[in-house]
Amino acid sequence: MTNRENFGSKLGAILAAAGSAVGLGNIWRFPIETGRNGGAAFILVYIGCILLLGMPIMLSEFLIGRHTQSNTARAYQKLAPGTPWKWVGRLGVFTGFFILSYYAVVAGWTIEYAGLALFNQFDGMTERQDFEQVFTNFSSEPFLPVILLIVFILLTHFVVVRGVAKGIERWSKVLMPMLFIIIAVLVVCSVSMPKAGEGVRFLLYPDFSKVDGGVVLSAMGQAFYSLSLGMGCLCTYASYFSKKTNLAKTTLQVCIIDTLIALMAGFIIFPAAAAADYGLTPDDIGPSLIFITLPNVFQQAFSGMPWLAYIFSVMFYLLLIVAALTSTISMHEVVTSYMSEEFHLGRKKAAWVETSMSIFLGIFCALSFGALGDVKIFGQTIFGAFDWMASNICLPVGGMFIAIFTGWYLDRQLFRDEITNCGTVRAPYFKLLIFVLRYITPLAIFAIILSNFGMF
Ligand code: TRP
Repeated sequence: MTNRENFGSKLGAILAAAGSAVGLGNIWRFPIETGRNGGAAFILVYIGCILLLGMPIMLSEFLIGRHTQSNTARAYQKLAPGTPWKWVGRLGVFTGFFILSYYAVVAGWTIEYAGLALFNQFDGMTERQDFEQVFTNFSSEPFLPVILLIVFILLTHFVVVRGVAKGIERWSKVLMPMLFIIIAVLVVCSVSMPKAGEGVRFLLYPDFSKVDGGVVLSAMGQAFYSLSLGMGCLCTYASYFSKKTNLAKTTLQVCIIDTLIALMAGFIIFPAAAAADYGLTPDDIGPSLIFITLPNVFQQAFSGMPWLAYIFSVMFYLLLIVAALTSTISMHEVVTSYMSEEFHLGRKKAAWVETSMSIFLGIFCALSFGALGDVKIFGQTIFGAFDWMASNICLPVGGMFIAIFTGWYLDRQLFRDEITNCGTVRAPYFKLLIFVLRYITPLAIFAIILSNFGMF
């Protein structure tokens, strides 16, 4: 194999992994799932899933990727030659292609909203119905959402083709910190709006009577989705890490950044929704949530200072595009590196294959808010079914096998050397980690999935 690229610095590696993790999953999907599943109690279950399932699996993906320095399917072939383990990698590639297709639809919406903000289209709007109308009209249109979906996948394509260090790393380094600052300012604005209290209470006072199997499944799915786990995405990125990167520390940093941003998004959306009397009832909550509440935050929070409202909304949507882009790049990269290395296609050609396949599938998802709205899969729209299937089934199943692989199959010494960079690790921590990967993580995932199919 030819020389593979590497991330240029440690910080670059962390930011690229965090760039993959932080995206629409945090800002768009987390508030939807929190709203649908009852608020504070969901958040606690979610944090439990991050600690028990997310962190051990992230560390596993990192070590598999960095040790083998190859795409996710090849990684298993190298570590477990001649076994069916390569199918875990292949499932990941398939899931990546799947997720990119519908994720890019929402990412396309962010372009539209950046445009609306740029041309000051929200100016003077105060009523909920106005914001709803804007969203419904736009998302049900047959052309614009499809065009923006294509634009977004092409943007992703060009960054991926430029390669890892020049494209992915350079972008993440500047833009991720900017996003963080804007979000922090918006949290302050949102919680200080009049009547925001009900929204804050919704996020802080758990009502455990609402927690059932479906809620736990959703929390688990959201944890995988938000951390980019279960499909070899972080495994592929780790294949570009240098041998000096501390994997355990990187895992901790990425998980903290990702969780913090998701929680902050919650503290922007719900207080704002309460302040605007949107109500927090589940029926209201769907893919449109942030596109209806956020413009309202900007208008209300800065109502005396329209120029500030303007600047903030434009910057926010631009950064949301970037956050989504650093995530779509990571999904695209999984499929592109797989195709180019396994089928000897060359990066450019491989990237075009993935781009065209995802555009094709994405068109159906984009149209499912309008022309194809009546097409139902298991009672959900095409978009809804893809999202449910990918995050609640494909990712956790992938994650379960990853945990079984590192916990049961992988050589202990290799595991230890890789996470300590051949240094020493305190024995109790290592034993605990192995115990969690062997028993807790896979069994918990298995039980949660089975219980949802009414198996017990
Ligand atoms: N984690 C990203 C987000 O929160 C989305 C994402 C990127 C992803 N790569 C992934 C989700 C791999 C699942 C698997 O927006």
